[in-house]
Amino acid sequence: MTEKLTQTREQIQSALEAAKDLQSLEALRVSVLGKNGEITTLLKSLGELPPEERREAGQAANELRDWATNAITTAKADINKKQQASALATESIDVTLPGRRRKIGRLHPINTVYTQMEDLFTSLGFDILEGPHVETVYHNFDALNSPHNHPSRDEADTFYFNDSLLLRTHTSPMQVRAMESQQPPIRVVIPGMTYRRDEIDATHTPAFHQMEGLVIDKGITFGDLKGMLELIVKHIFGPDSQIRLRPSHFPFTEPSAEVDITCYVCAGSPTGCRVCKSSGWVELWGCGMVHPNVLRMSGIDPEVYSGYAFGLGVDRITSALYGIATPRLYFENDMQFLGQF
Ligand code: PHE
Repeated sequence: MTEKLTQTREQIQSALEAAKDLQSLEALRVSVLGKNGEITTLLKSLGELPPEERREAGQAANELRDWATNAITTAKADINKKQQASALATESIDVTLPGRRRKIGRLHPINTVYTQMEDLFTSLGFDILEGPHVETVYHNFDALNSPHNHPSRDEADTFYFNDSLLLRTHTSPMQVRAMESQQPPIRVVIPGMTYRRDEIDATHTPAFHQMEGLVIDKGITFGDLKGMLELIVKHIFGPDSQIRLRPSHFPFTEPSAEVDITCYVCAGSPTGCRVCKSSGWVELWGCGMVHPNVLRMSGIDPEVYSGYAFGLGVDRITSALYGIATPRLYFENDMQFLGQF
């Protein structure tokens, strides 16, 4: 028995020296101290010894078990320590390195202007509506009193899907949809994208942003429209800002006008400017009194009601506000550009 114990001890000793990782140590523990492990089996077999040998052998076997348990535990702890030390050496964090800044998103300048205007209009009791970007030719043109030979209906100017559907060329078709679905008094604004076959240049992009306004009630006059225009301009550009109203023509308003503000690039300097074409004024939007034909077609009696409409050019307003000469930048998702706002 003593011999067997000495042998086992030597075996364990050399296995311990050979074990390089936690797995082999665990395997060793199971093979020695597990249910059917060598020492466990030895301890079980003690009962078969003659009684006079049993005591001594029992003591020696127990000692061997304690020694093995201890040795394996210590060896495991050593390996753990070594692993931790090497992890600390290789995975250490250099706290003196500069941190990585997380970029915080912000509103696109166009949306900032939309938000400002929506604040103004909701405070004046207007409802905000949204309309389809893919419109019917009927709502985009016919119901807006635009005759079949009107140049804006030309294929060269408009993105048609087929004979009856197109990408809306303005937000004005929502005037018609609002009048079709509501009874006066009506006070609505409609923000959204609009599309025309324009070449990209200093003042044009094939997609752009508008905000339509429509007010229909009894006794609405051009004076109400002018007051509203001045309110909008002062809200956006400050109390000193000036507008110029220029007679114009839209098939769906009569009389019609263009609203200009002083050129935001050259302020009217005589040296010439490609944004205002050296006129000193920049056209911001069109407006007018809703044409009686339009009211009639949408089921509103022009003998009882009158109203005004305007179509704000949001890109132009944003350009004027921030001094941006190229509206193309609104569509390019250039972070260097957008990060400035
Ligand atoms: N829809 C016109 C345009 O896009 C603008 C407009 C709106 C004019 C409402 C008059 C009334 O040019």
